[in-house]
Amino acid sequence: MKKKIIVANWKLNGSIKSISYFLSFLKSKIPLYSRKNIIIIAPPTVFLERVYKNIRNTNVFLSAQNIDVNINGAFTGENSVLMMKDIGVQYVILGHSERRLFHYENDEIITKKFGLVKKLNLVPILCIGETEIEKKSNQTKKILKKQLKSILTVFGETAFRNTIIAYEPIWAIGTGVSANPDDVQLIHQFIKNYIKKYDTISAEKLIVQYGGSVNSLNAENFLKKVDIDGLLVGSASLKHEEFLKIIEISDNILQKK
Ligand code: 13P
Repeated sequence: MKKKIIVANWKLNGSIKSISYFLSFLKSKIPLYSRKNIIIIAPPTVFLERVYKNIRNTNVFLSAQNIDVNINGAFTGENSVLMMKDIGVQYVILGHSERRLFHYENDEIITKKFGLVKKLNLVPILCIGETEIEKKSNQTKKILKKQLKSILTVFGETAFRNTIIAYEPIWAIGTGVSANPDDVQLIHQFIKNYIKKYDTISAEKLIVQYGGSVNSLNAENFLKKVDIDGLLVGSASLKHEEFLKIIEISDNILQKK
């Protein structure tokens, strides 16, 4: 049975107090839920080690929200993938639309970072997605292909093995308006078929999760779909009970399979 991957992207939120509370709650429940799901937490960099100390030896894993394009050197204010690995990080979110928009990251920068993450045997969580204008002008597939192609061109047909692709339509992020699960299912199928044109990997081994205004009320409709392999959860992952509910929903769905 394919595990569902549920990622909490805390973005620029949290404090020592709120994180301690969240983790002690999660730790008391996690042995039950982490057998079927893969649960990953992506806190702000400054809290990574604190989270790691709490989740070590559990089935919850640690993700960075970003890394620099350099491994080390005179780059004031940055953090490298090497440092991330050193403190227990196993996954790295790349290409998030907030980084593309507010930090001017383009496909070239994202591709460089993708290479660094792969080189150190960590798992990239590569975010791709279209804007509202692109959706309305029927360009979703074209945009997704372009974003995937920039990785394929550099790293070859097996680039997406051991990678999580997160389909995050930009218009659905932080808006309270999630995408339609039927549409997402078709887009995930499209993404998998596109990659399979290059790679001989079975579709079963490709991982594509959805992100954008996911909460405990709509999670089931996404997770029930055969090609939605998990969720990348933003604001709902900040509330411990809400996040746990989403994991519980995933658990129930897997139970029925
Ligand atoms: P929201 O769940 O707050 O819409 O954020 C989604 C997201 O950007 C996850 O990376």
